[in-house]
Amino acid sequence: MKGRVDKAVAGLMALLLAPGLALGTAQASEDEHDASGVHEFHETMEELGEHAEQIVKAINHEDWQWVAKEARAIAEHPRPPAEERQRIMAFAGDRRAEFQEADHAAHEAAATLADVADAGDGREVIRAFADLQATCLDCHASFRDDFRQHFYMGSK
Ligand code: HEC
Repeated sequence: MKGRVDKAVAGLMALLLAPGLALGTAQASEDEHDASGVHEFHETMEELGEHAEQIVKAINHEDWQWVAKEARAIAEHPRPPAEERQRIMAFAGDRRAEFQEADHAAHEAAATLADVADAGDGREVIRAFADLQATCLDCHASFRDDFRQHFYMGSK
């Protein structure tokens, strides 16, 4: 039991560092994304990052209702307009299903976190949050570099 909790906490510590890393790279794309045609998607990602940071704060305050609220905002985040979705699907190419599954996994994990937070068990909340962040991480590992290369670096 204790080992599991330690693992969850170690995972959480890694996650606490992750938003900083993501934000550190935010500036590079800031000037170019208007021309990229994926502006709304990018905005959504920044919002997801902000909600995730709020969840860390809410966990530290042990305010589970707040966690639930932020998690629902992630679970129910608006989809980018159809035109952008088409561009993103064209970019994903034969990895389209993988991209959609990654998106689906993040929505599911956020909905689970919201439910767990409603139940108010702090350890379960931390675990569910770690699961959520892992879905973000997985999609980023698979797609973020290629996405930037494709939409921001001028190469096709
Ligand atoms: C389906 C794939 C996918 C999922 C799931 C996903 N992301 Fe992203 N994310 C991306 C891609 C692609 C980019 C690069 C887009 C860009 O820079 O415009 C990105 C970029 C970001 C950025 C950087 C924005 C910037 O200004 O550089 C943040 C922050 C972010 N995501 C947060 C999250 C969080 C938090 C989650 C989970 C709750 C998440 N993402 C889930 C694909 C995903």
